[in-house]
Amino acid sequence: MGPKPSKSLGQRLMEWRPLVSIYESRFWRRSGLFARIAGIPFDQELATLSREARLEKARRVLDLACGSGIYTRPFAHRLAHGRVVGLDLSTPMLAQALRRSREEGCGNLDLVRGSALDLPFRSGCFDVVNCCGAVHLFPDVPRALAEIQRVLAPGGRFTAAVFRRGPSEREVRRAEQRERMMGVHAFSREEFEGRLADAGFVAARFPHEHGVWMLAAAEKSAEASV
Ligand SMILES: C[S@@+](CC[C@H](N)C(=O)[O-])C[C@H]1O[C@@H](n2cnc3c(N)ncnc32)[C@H](O)[C@@H]1O
Repeated sequence: MGPKPSKSLGQRLMEWRPLVSIYESRFWRRSGLFARIAGIPFDQELATLSREARLEKARRVLDLACGSGIYTRPFAHRLAHGRVVGLDLSTPMLAQALRRSREEGCGNLDLVRGSALDLPFRSGCFDVVNCCGAVHLFPDVPRALAEIQRVLAPGGRFTAAVFRRGPSEREVRRAEQRERMMGVHAFSREEFEGRLADAGFVAARFPHEHGVWMLAAAEKSAEASV
């Protein structure tokens, strides 16, 4: 998969205010339809990835491509002694995240506009990087994974939810259609596992795979240099 041109339709949607305003509601990310398609309700996804990230041991967490903060805020609430940074490319998403985090009184949450391909953080500064619903939108996945690996501390955890491409002919055909129309790249487990290994991650695991959705977790080796 080579670099993609300009902004995909998928990314333009993420900057479209009407969608941003309903993104977290029961009409989209928390909808029954989304849960059926993904094979997992949002709260269970959050619990699974929090466990894989060993969030209770983290002090510095990056929620990469945080959108409206659907993960960022629960992480901030759970981190009694830590801080969470939410980073996203979409200004409307970040405005929504800011509004909601103020409403919920999250005092340990910072929001940054930036690109996953060029993270504005020093090397080794996060215990956990979480990135949900977004790797499949990145125009250069190897570069984004290299950046995630760079900003993680040795022994740091990476968790993700990505679009999945199942093995059947029908699933492969549908995934190709989605990529052509929306610029959304769906990964087979083998492909994502390979991408993680190429970026230097170890201990890759896939706690959920169903239909078009896959949860993944991996680590930066404790022996890795910062
Ligand atoms: C579907 S939303 C996911 C939001 C949230 N993480 C979730 O799990 O629901 C995808 C987000 O990825 C962001 N995004 C896409 N490409 C990005 C990039 N290169 N750098 C940073 N954010 C990006 C979009 O702006 C959008 O807010």
